[in-house]
This record gives sequence, structure tokens and C-alpha cells, in this order.
Amino acid sequence: MVTSIDGRLHPSRFTASPDGVVKDWSRLTEGLHDSYGGEGWIVGRATMQEMAKGEPHPPAAFEPPPRPHHIARRDAKAIAVTFDRGGRVHYRAGEIGGDHAVAVLGSGVADAHLAELVADGVSYIVSQTPDIDLRAALAVLKREFGVSQLLLEGGAEINGAFLAAGLVEELSVVVAPALDADLDVQGIVAFPGGLKGRVQLRLIGCDRLDHGAVHLRYEVLPG
Ligand SMILES: NC(=O)c1ccc[n+]([C@@H]2O[C@H](COP(=O)([O-])OP(=O)(O)OC[C@H]3O[C@@H](n4cnc5c(N)ncnc54)[C@H](OP(=O)(O)O)[C@@H]3O)[C@@H](O)[C@H]2O)c1
Repeated sequence: MVTSIDGRLHPSRFTASPDGVVKDWSRLTEGLHDSYGGEGWIVGRATMQEMAKGEPHPPAAFEPPPRPHHIARRDAKAIAVTFDRGGRVHYRAGEIGGDHAVAVLGSGVADAHLAELVADGVSYIVSQTPDIDLRAALAVLKREFGVSQLLLEGGAEINGAFLAAGLVEELSVVVAPALDADLDVQGIVAFPGGLKGRVQLRLIGCDRLDHGAVHLRYEVLPG
């Protein structure tokens, strides 16, 4: 993830710098994404809606879609996972940025949405409960796709949920030489009631990058 030095989430709002522009800092995070290895990545529902850009298009008629999961592809090099309790993300294809799209959904998701995902070539996992059990979902992803490490790449709410659940091993951020500073703008992590007492961070890396940016890495420990 890329953040400003005041920890904010939206690069389009950042102050300018003589050292670089948002594109430079985003490219640095993409490079780090690649260097962390390629089994797959996770984003929250809001972030995936921005990436997938689909509109609702359920098939007019369909057989009851399989539950609790449908695996459209098992040979994908990497998976692009989103946690979408209500089935609000609509896709245009079964791939996002060249990686196979996988939706993790709450138990209340409609059959029409599952049928849409099947038709789009998207894999899905339906949780046993309306609120997704993150740890159980990761176990299914590991079993079905053979992934042992996934990159959690925002936004704030899904980052907060995974951190609070004790499911993050390392926090890695590119800090741009920029400020946001407006009132009520999201930070890169959000969790109701905060994370004090839930996690601790230990600094394990601090590298100066190009374009005035710094790469910070922390081991995440229980609070
Ligand atoms: N700076 C960066 O590098 C960076 C990286 C990624 C994203 N972003 C930005 O971040 C913004 C979105 O951030 P966001 O915090 O609003 O949304 P988000 O984290 O992308 O998605 C949050 C949504 O995920 C769903 N979700 C599923 N399971 C959840 C759980 N157990 N706990 C919490 N949420 C769960 C919820 O939607 P439902 O209730 O509908 O399921 C929740 O509203 C976008 O504007 C994006 O561009 C920035």
C-alpha cells in the first residue's frame, strides 16, 4: 500500500512533491507486490468494485449454482481475492489484472449473484454465516488453490478486519513524501474501537526508495 506521512489512504488527495508523483509511488508499490511473490492478493469489497467495474448482469435463467464453493480455475498462477459479504462486486471477466478472480461471500448471497459469477468465470466461496469468518475462509483458499501466503492490499476496513483477527504477519507500506491532512479522511487501517490492545508492531525494515519514498516493514505481533 502507498500512504502519505500522515497515514492517509487516497493518493489522489496527496500534496505535490518535487521528488515524484502519485504514479511513481504507485509503481514502487507494484514493484514490491511482485517482489513479495505471486500466489495472490486480497482487497476489500469497496476496492474491488473500483477495479472490477462491472454492472449487475445475472443470467435470465440458471440452474441452482453450487454451494459452498465453485472453483472456476485451479491452474491460475495467482488469485485476486475479495471479501464481499453481500455479493455487491460485479465483474466483467474472471480475471483482474491477469490474476484469477475469487469472491468470498456471506451466506445470504443470492443464487442469481452466484450464477452471474459462474457465467463470468469467477470462483467463489460462500461462508457458513452472513459475516465472513476470515480465518476459515483463508483455510478454504489454501485447500482449494494451494496458496500459503496472500498479500493484503487494502482498503482500510479489510486491513483493519484482518489485523484485528490476528491474520497479518507483516505490515509493509510505501510512505510518499506527501500530506493529506484534511479532516475525516480515511487512514490506511480502520477498525471500530481501534486496534489498541489487539496488535503490536516491531520494525523489521526501513529502506529509502526513489521519488522521495520510504519503504517501512513491521512484524505484526499479538497485542
Ligand atoms: N493507498 C492505497 O495503496 C490503497 C490500496 C487499496 C485501496 N485503496 C483505496 O481504499 C478505498 C476503499 O477502502 P475502504 O476501507 O473503504 O474499503 P475496503 O477495505 O476496500 O472494503 C471494505 C468492505 O469490505 C467488506 N468486508 C468483507 N468482509 C469484511 C470484514 N470481515 N470486515 C470488514 N469489511 C469486510 C465490507 O463490505 P460489505 O459489507 O459490502 O461486505 C466493507 O465495507 C478505495 O478508495 C481504494 O482506492 C487505497
